[in-house]
Amino acid sequence: MLPLLKLLQDGRFHSGEELGAAMGVSRSAIWKQLQCLEAETGLPVHKVRGKGYRLANPLILLDEQVLRAQSAEGSWPISVLRSVDSTNAEALRRLLAREAPPFVLLAERQTAGRGRRGRSWISPFGENLYYSLVLRVDGGMRQLEGLSLVVGVALLHALRSAGLEAVGLKWPNDLLLNGRKIAGVLLELSGDPADVCHVVIGIGVNVNMLASEQHEIDQPWTSMRAELGRYFDRNELVRQLNGQLSRYLAKHFEFGFSAIKDEWQANHLWQGRDVVLHTGATPIEGKVLGVDSSGAICLRVAGVEQRFSGGELGLRLRDDS
Ligand code: BTN
Repeated sequence: MLPLLKLLQDGRFHSGEELGAAMGVSRSAIWKQLQCLEAETGLPVHKVRGKGYRLANPLILLDEQVLRAQSAEGSWPISVLRSVDSTNAEALRRLLAREAPPFVLLAERQTAGRGRRGRSWISPFGENLYYSLVLRVDGGMRQLEGLSLVVGVALLHALRSAGLEAVGLKWPNDLLLNGRKIAGVLLELSGDPADVCHVVIGIGVNVNMLASEQHEIDQPWTSMRAELGRYFDRNELVRQLNGQLSRYLAKHFEFGFSAIKDEWQANHLWQGRDVVLHTGATPIEGKVLGVDSSGAICLRVAGVEQRFSGGELGLRLRDDS
């Protein structure tokens, strides 16, 4: 399927004859392969009599060769999977099978993408970024403190360098643009966090997905393409992301979260806002004061400062709103 998709990637019409010759198969075999391709990827193919076949929408596949060529020396090895349940789940399986970190897994599609708090992460073929970076952590809990927030800051810079100036953070590590979610981070651990363990840093970015495609997402969302008004090459985003992650992770490793905390707070869109924190059975209402040196959120609740290390923030609606 992938070689056929690569031939169609240019978005131009290709006759069945031309595709057959390139693939070394008959025209009818091409027709069957195109049916499979549509069924497997969900990518619509236009078929026009006298012209041939072309992809209905633009597509630039993730390309290991391109990614390798653009990587700095000594950077993390990258594998691109065509389809996987979840890049995080696959990373955890590879750790169990003793694959040595660091490494990055990318996928064109996830069939069971995982979001925070048990949510699923919609992951259609070829449209978005599904990225997992696996690292060994042997500095104990200190090395994990604030880590997911640091990843959010790195991702923020990767998106800004792509032209999304107005992107900001929502605790703990959502990235929002104009009140809509554009990216999220899910950290998963394997091993003993107090001793030697591995962390899987899962990042999902809505890159080329459009609302007109009717994806079932239960919260307001946007994508790079929707905001920039043009198709975006995910290989370029991976380059930016790897660069920003290696910079911020090195700083975090050396100085801890306290060295990045001010920058995180300066980019927190809900700083000073009245919020509701959903954690446990009873929602907690308070005002956002900031985060502490472990990345926990500090809220003023009924006049008293309290810290919370998990949960989901929502804005508190006023009675008159
Ligand atoms: C969130 O809920 O905001 C976190 C979303 C994280 C999604 C990414 S996509 C790559 C990696 N693999 C997964 O299954 N989830 C993360």
